[in-house]
Amino acid sequence: MDAAKTVLITGASGGIGYELAKLFARDHHNLVLVARSGDKLAHVATELEAHGVSVKTVALDLAEPPAPKFLFAQLQREGIAIDILINNAGFGALGNFADMPEDQILGQINLNIIALTQLTKLFLPPMLARRSGRIMNVASTAGFQPGPLMAVYYATKAYVLSFTEAIANELRHSGVTVTCFCPGPTHTGFGKRAGNDQSRVFKQFGAMNADRVALDGYRALMEGRTLAISGIHNWAVAQSTRFAPRKLVTAISRWVSEKTE
Ligand SMILES: NC(=O)c1ccc[n+]([C@@H]2O[C@H](COP(=O)([O-])OP(=O)(O)OC[C@H]3O[C@@H](n4cnc5c(N)ncnc54)[C@H](OP(=O)(O)O)[C@@H]3O)[C@@H](O)[C@H]2O)c1
Repeated sequence: MDAAKTVLITGASGGIGYELAKLFARDHHNLVLVARSGDKLAHVATELEAHGVSVKTVALDLAEPPAPKFLFAQLQREGIAIDILINNAGFGALGNFADMPEDQILGQINLNIIALTQLTKLFLPPMLARRSGRIMNVASTAGFQPGPLMAVYYATKAYVLSFTEAIANELRHSGVTVTCFCPGPTHTGFGKRAGNDQSRVFKQFGAMNADRVALDGYRALMEGRTLAISGIHNWAVAQSTRFAPRKLVTAISRWVSEKTE
């Protein structure tokens, strides 16, 4: 087991981020947990402090552009160095692009792309100076193909996948590992917020449980893997998109996002 680290997890008030936080607390790592819901974060902190670790919570809307800089400055002021950064917070929205309200479009881009990129840019230099650190960006199997009815969400995850694999290569001799973690459909609050919890992908294709997904992510991060896909069936689907014609892949992607009875 690694010596105790300080781990920053965004989106830790529920879902995969919360399950990741539990795994780190059980292995005696200290935590900085970020999400919008301060009350939920407070409950999580009380639960995880029982493991004898320190848990700091920061209630922040990371889709607001100044938020990543604000978070970094606050932690610097308090002398908290981050050894492991997990950019997990993200959301999706179902619907035709033409009908989607602008705030949902920009909200996804601001949180899934801009906050993730800014946080990586801010927390990387101190890791490089120490020649030690780990970063995990949570993408999705959605990142491997276009996603009609969730066009913006799929595109944001394609960005996370491409960006993360590229900087993992740039940083390969730096002492800092960068992992792109891709869950497939997972039982969390995501489906309800996205409005796709009644879609084929959730109803017919068997979503995974968040604790199992988080364990896959935790292992991939600690092993310093560049890319990890949770679940063998999700891995197979992601691979299949490389060989099938793009039009077919896009049509199937639409079909799985459609509502089913
Ligand atoms: N569930 C899936 O099927 C699935 C599949 C593939 C990839 N993923 C990815 O996995 C990651 C985690 O999702 P999840 O399934 O665990 O979803 P979730 O249960 O909805 O959790 C999302 C977390 O992000 C936080 N969050 C949302 N908007 C935020 C904002 N503007 N600022 C700060 N925090 C915010 C939420 O807390 P608050 O609401 O308190 O802010 C919550 O803690 C996301 O990046 C998602 O895209 C999920």
